Amino acid sequence: MTMLDEPLTRTTSTGPGGTSTGSAGREPAAGHRPGQRHRRLHAWVASVAELTQPDAVVWCDGSREEYDRLCELLVANGTFVRLNPELRPRSFLARSTPDDVARVESRTFICSEHEADAGPTNNWRAPGAMRAQLQDVFAGAMRGRTMYVVPFSMGPVDSPFARYGVEITDSPYVVVSMHLMTRVGTAVLDRLGADGGFVEAVHSVGHPLVDSSGRRRADVPWPCSPTKYICHFPESREIWSYGSGYGGNALLGKKCFALRIASVLGRDEGWLAEHMLVLELTSPEGRTHHVAAAFPSACGKTNLAMLQPTVPGWTARTVGDDIAWMHPVGEGDDAELRAINPEAGFFGVAPGTGEKTNPTAVAMVASDTIFTNVALTDDGDVWWEGLTEDVPAHLVDWQGQDWTPDAGRPAAHPNSRFTVSAERCPSIASTWDAPEGVRIDAILFGGRRATNVPLVVEARDWAHGVYLGATISSEQTAAAEGTVGELRRDPFAMLPFCGYAMPDYWAHWLRVGERLGDRAPRIFQVNWFRKGPDGAYLWPGFGENSRVLAWALGRVEGTADAEETPLGRVPARDDAGLLGLALPDDVVDRLRHADPAALAEEYDLTAAWLATLGDRVPPEVTAELTRARELLAAAPRG
Ligand code: OXD
Ligand code: MN
Repeated sequence: MTMLDEPLTRTTSTGPGGTSTGSAGREPAAGHRPGQRHRRLHAWVASVAELTQPDAVVWCDGSREEYDRLCELLVANGTFVRLNPELRPRSFLARSTPDDVARVESRTFICSEHEADAGPTNNWRAPGAMRAQLQDVFAGAMRGRTMYVVPFSMGPVDSPFARYGVEITDSPYVVVSMHLMTRVGTAVLDRLGADGGFVEAVHSVGHPLVDSSGRRRADVPWPCSPTKYICHFPESREIWSYGSGYGGNALLGKKCFALRIASVLGRDEGWLAEHMLVLELTSPEGRTHHVAAAFPSACGKTNLAMLQPTVPGWTARTVGDDIAWMHPVGEGDDAELRAINPEAGFFGVAPGTGEKTNPTAVAMVASDTIFTNVALTDDGDVWWEGLTEDVPAHLVDWQGQDWTPDAGRPAAHPNSRFTVSAERCPSIASTWDAPEGVRIDAILFGGRRATNVPLVVEARDWAHGVYLGATISSEQTAAAEGTVGELRRDPFAMLPFCGYAMPDYWAHWLRVGERLGDRAPRIFQVNWFRKGPDGAYLWPGFGENSRVLAWALGRVEGTADAEETPLGRVPARDDAGLLGLALPDDVVDRLRHADPAALAEEYDLTAAWLATLGDRVPPEVTAELTRARELLAAAPRG
């Protein structure tokens, strides 16, 4: 093996195509190789190196020195632009290629032994056939590159709820992003000992620098491949990702592990891996509760996770903004659902993040942040749509082109991101990395619904809550493919993220509810996006959403009033209007109810959709739909 792209790295070779080791590029102490007691780990690393044929193998230790050195390498490679250290200290901008800007759901596969276990909403591929394809594309995929071995923990390393993984990647951008998003390092190898379990995660950008006849080519700032595979093998807990360097396709701890693989672990072991933010709320009386909330992508989850309450006396703190692992613990009266945020950082959408919408996030990314696909200002800082009201007169856009406000195209890609460690978040909760997690008191399910879904509804019971989660939907907007106005279903906001059959996942939720009994969190459906006949939003959203949270927690505590409706329990009208906010009567009506005729039509659509999910849909879910229809039919009209 020769050293090509990483001058600081020195490695020792164990033979052609074999592994060589170095702790973050430095020769390890004599006689010690990272994780050396773990034979399966070493055999696997050797086999991946043999298949992909990198020039060098580097074991990552998660140190600051490693992070800094790889950032320097990325600057030297042209992947990173160093931002002005006075305006944006220790921060970088990366620009991807236009064909690698988002998760690729059409190339995301669940390779379970049986197709029925991937279920009706996943792309299934037979594991044998997929393995054969992967062998082909990964063969020689890392030629001319360094292969990094990244041991990481999802969750605090010492938490009983933590799970470990090892990502092998040929992308230093992925390594530094994993440093921010997960806990990387030698402590994980120590924990793994000689035979600890870990998720195998293999990633290549699919852009070798040497071809099979030994011809070398120059690297590019954002290497990737037009051919992409994001594959999950749920039975063997493996991830193989090829061809993309971006986000959830490449940072394999996030959607691939913490949701798709972890949902399967949760099914088998009795816990829940969810696409949920976790927020700590403290009332004026000093009582602290935790809310977990599932929303489809692009519904403002990071904003809600960093909410600044407008309700006097309330404070909010962030535990997580994207993923929650929730474990039922204890028995009888001591039973509770405890959650950890398995991640260690935020990979947030930049556009729309501004002083008005999320000042906390703006402060969080003031330094020590990796930006991807945002625009560059003339003084070496970053900008994106919505960051400031004033639009700069000149920028370099996310594709590296000159940009002026009349360009007719956004300066930042709509899915451009910031990647930053959770510790930089000014609203981070003191318990965000507590090994024992936090107790969840309320669960929220929300979509983006202009019609039919009130501002907030409390579920009658757990099964009704599961039905509300299962039927989360958003009206299709012009921004995505599909017919405008059509309902896009996103059950539990997990449609692209559940690693097994959706109907079985609902059954699992019902089992967890049984296990928790009356100690289960209360479930609520929320909708910040209800519109009036003129198309204007009826609810102000953002900080005012704290009114809804305060009401929900009032329900948990038994202090808030509610009115029974066919849809569930809604907040009573009050002197101001609703939840202490002065609103006109017709707006209050719309925010608390839905039009019966439109609802009846929607229930028909829901029935038709459930029918497409096959015969594993739990009878409890169909029974809830029947009950919803009966309640609607029995409700007084007018
Ligand atoms: C995300 C998503 O990137 O949900 O978090 O798409
Ligand atoms: Mn997400």
